[in-house]
Amino acid sequence: METNIDLSVRIGSGRLANPVGVASGTFGYGREYEGLVDFSDLGAIYTKAVTLEPRAGNPPPRLVETPSGILNSIGLANVGVEKFISDKLPFLTSLPCAVVVNVAGSTEDEYQKVIERLESVDGGIWGYEVNVSCPNVKHGGLAFGTDPVQIERLTSSLRRLTKKPLIIKLTPNVTDITAIAASAQAGGADAVSLINTLVGMVIDVKTGKPVLGAKTGGLSGPAVRPVGVALTYRVKRAVSIPVIGMGGITCADDALQYILAGASAVQIGTANFVNPKTAGEVLRGIRGYCIDNGALSLNEICGAVF
Ligand code: SIN
Repeated sequence: METNIDLSVRIGSGRLANPVGVASGTFGYGREYEGLVDFSDLGAIYTKAVTLEPRAGNPPPRLVETPSGILNSIGLANVGVEKFISDKLPFLTSLPCAVVVNVAGSTEDEYQKVIERLESVDGGIWGYEVNVSCPNVKHGGLAFGTDPVQIERLTSSLRRLTKKPLIIKLTPNVTDITAIAASAQAGGADAVSLINTLVGMVIDVKTGKPVLGAKTGGLSGPAVRPVGVALTYRVKRAVSIPVIGMGGITCADDALQYILAGASAVQIGTANFVNPKTAGEVLRGIRGYCIDNGALSLNEICGAVF
């Protein structure tokens, strides 16, 4: 007999069927993974960042492998909100999983305009993840994500534009991430997601030059997992809204570390490039863990570390 485990997650006005999503920037606009994954395994697709205008992104090279990770400096390359709506959204919203649009901008006004435009079409969007943590752009990105005052102001201005779940994606490149998370909550966020990448650099000693065209990039992959788990643990104790954990998850045990630390949901990022089926495997592993430990819902294990 199959045990009925409730793995659903409530975030603001929305409910995710399961806690395992795929992280922004590692899953394109969904279609890139057609034929490779069973989309019904996914709790949510967090889309590639969408800005008001199309962006070409940073000069190449944009990716370099590092020990147990990768360093990227994509620079928020994307098609812009209009093409996203006409070319990407119809496929995404035909899928049997929630679609969370990752929104980025250089100014508060830009973030607002992107969300206003997306709200005007609706089109089956489940919610928004606000990217205030990209380390690879000169304007916006980290400039917002490192300042609690700006975070609260931006969050409350976006809150007024939508009733859908509003998630603020946090950077680990700060002195005190709990202060930033508290500001997002004060501004009306329904959840915070963390961690975005850690700033890093790789130098080619033969040329004496940084490998990445933008010189520095953001580090992700298993190398950052202990940082993500520790910050999830700290943030969970500082806010009452749900925390979505990510950073270096490759298997169910990795995801369970985040959940035990206090994450209500998780995102799979860099691992998608190695094994596109990671999210489904993680989901089945979490379900198995609940059965083995007599938990009938995810809530029973969320934050259970002692
Ligand atoms: C990028 O586009 O450079 C990465 C996005 C991010 O780190 O938020």
